[in-house]
Amino acid sequence: MSQSYETLLLERRDRVAIVTINRPDKRNALNIKTREEGAAVLDELRDDESIHVVVITGAGDKAFIAGADIGEFAGRTALMQRDVMVQRSLFNAIDTFPKPVIAMINGYCLGGGCEVALACDIRIASENASLGQPEINLGIIPGGGGTQRLTRLVGEGKAMELILSGQIIDAKTALEIGLVNHVVPFAELETKTMQIANTIAEKGPIAVRLAKEAVKIAARTNLDEGLRREVDLFALCFATEDKDEGVKAFLEKRKPVFKGR
Ligand code: COA
Repeated sequence: MSQSYETLLLERRDRVAIVTINRPDKRNALNIKTREEGAAVLDELRDDESIHVVVITGAGDKAFIAGADIGEFAGRTALMQRDVMVQRSLFNAIDTFPKPVIAMINGYCLGGGCEVALACDIRIASENASLGQPEINLGIIPGGGGTQRLTRLVGEGKAMELILSGQIIDAKTALEIGLVNHVVPFAELETKTMQIANTIAEKGPIAVRLAKEAVKIAARTNLDEGLRREVDLFALCFATEDKDEGVKAFLEKRKPVFKGR
């Protein structure tokens, strides 16, 4: 039984869960409630074996997420803000989520919204999307991982320019610098995203989980340590029934039926 949420919608489509941030009047800006519910919905989906992939998007045709709710910044002290970021970190909840999370970017993807997308594993944008880290215009800096994840994704030079200038870029430019994986017309965004989500959702979920974990290690450690950890995760696959089934199916020239065991 699914919980009900005030600020987001949860839809299950076969093995894919679609989480929609639902504050279109506020361009889906992240207030405290949204952060808490975002982390709670991921908790709900974490142990749900029927769900293999999660898609995150924003309601309406204007915004994915237009950033942190700026209204909540007024009157907030340094320690209060630190608590919001540390104790209610939607970004880390996405980053450490054991299943793939795909950002379906349907419009403004700014500040904390861009950081949500950066915490996701794959980013698909519509042609009308615009992306950036405009925090500098408010006299602050990104605090949801933007300086770290953007830099790792697009390189120091591009990240530095975006973060220092607060410049908003269009989807095509985001594709050119590697900030998003694909750009499609708005009308095709859901189809394209679901194609990718369903392709991954058909694979063995244990192998997908270990692959995600292995790739994530790359940005967090040196090559020798990363290669050692990869071998361990690779070897772990050999303890699964899915590996036996995958190999058997190949040799029998049929499609594998993975059970997540
Ligand atoms: N926090 C709080 N409210 C926000 C918001 C945010 N990050 N982004 C948009 N909103 C609200 C607006 O205040 C407005 O509310 P109102 O109708 O009660 O006045 C509503 O959403 C619509 O925004 P509006 O600016 O009228 O829409 P737009 O389509 O013309 O412009 C943006 C959209 C995203 C370009 C613009 O709202 C904007 O620049 N938002 C802030 C982006 C930002 O700096 N994010 C980083 C925060 S750290």
